[in-house]
Amino acid sequence: MSRRPLIAANWKMHGTVASVQAYLEALVDRVGAAGPEVVVCPPFTLLPAAVLIATGSEVAIGAQNCHWEDSGAFTGEVAPAMLAAFTGEVAPAMLAELGVRWVIAGHSERRQYFGESDASAGARAKAAQRAGLDVIFCVGETLEQREAGATLAVLERQSTAIEGLDPAHLALAYEPIWAIGTGKTATATQAQEAHAALRRRAGELLGEPAAAGLRILYGGSVKPDNAAVLLAEKDVDGALVGGASLDVEGFWAIIHAAPGEHRGAEE
Ligand code: PGA
Repeated sequence: MSRRPLIAANWKMHGTVASVQAYLEALVDRVGAAGPEVVVCPPFTLLPAAVLIATGSEVAIGAQNCHWEDSGAFTGEVAPAMLAAFTGEVAPAMLAELGVRWVIAGHSERRQYFGESDASAGARAKAAQRAGLDVIFCVGETLEQREAGATLAVLERQSTAIEGLDPAHLALAYEPIWAIGTGKTATATQAQEAHAALRRRAGELLGEPAAAGLRILYGGSVKPDNAAVLLAEKDVDGALVGGASLDVEGFWAIIHAAPGEHRGAEE
């Protein structure tokens, strides 16, 4: 099973309607069907504008979070089906092609500031898949955990939440917390070690063929000047980019750094 590189932009709590429009207008014509798959995840309020511009292009739009229930009394929350249906007014017949396609689950900032647990992250991911969305599921250790030699144990525990998910609509993101927004990046060797462990773990949880085809992204201070080295590692199948994704030229340089060819399970 081959693995097409996946490069995702996580805008976090940044951007305006005008900035997402300008950004996507600059990006959509450059991204083709042959290179890496490209996903842009702006804040909820910018999703309709983003979807309108990305419609018909090779750029997919993703959300940064969703609730684990399909509807209910949850003030301030957004259900996955609402995301998938955002474009209903635009082109009802083409919902699957035109709606929000991806959602991020289990990001460390959600875990750190909003009480996200392994269980709630897993529940969000399952709900998202029920609504037809593809999921980027994030895991990663703190600096203390790394220094205590607990990295692989933490990744094993966190990734248990992907059990039962549909691997055809899933990507994992390894995001060492000490590298997020800090300018510190994992070395290519550290990333490869973690990614290989995650692929082994995915094999136990999802089965070997699914694990061989699963894309595992690296996130944590990915920039145009370090992307190529990280993406050259054999189990690094893409990137989840925060700060450096806000500038469209920087994000494009990172997309460009991804290997053009798909990777096969036999590598
Ligand atoms: P960063 O964020 O690239 O700004 O480190 C990555 C992420 O949190 O997804």
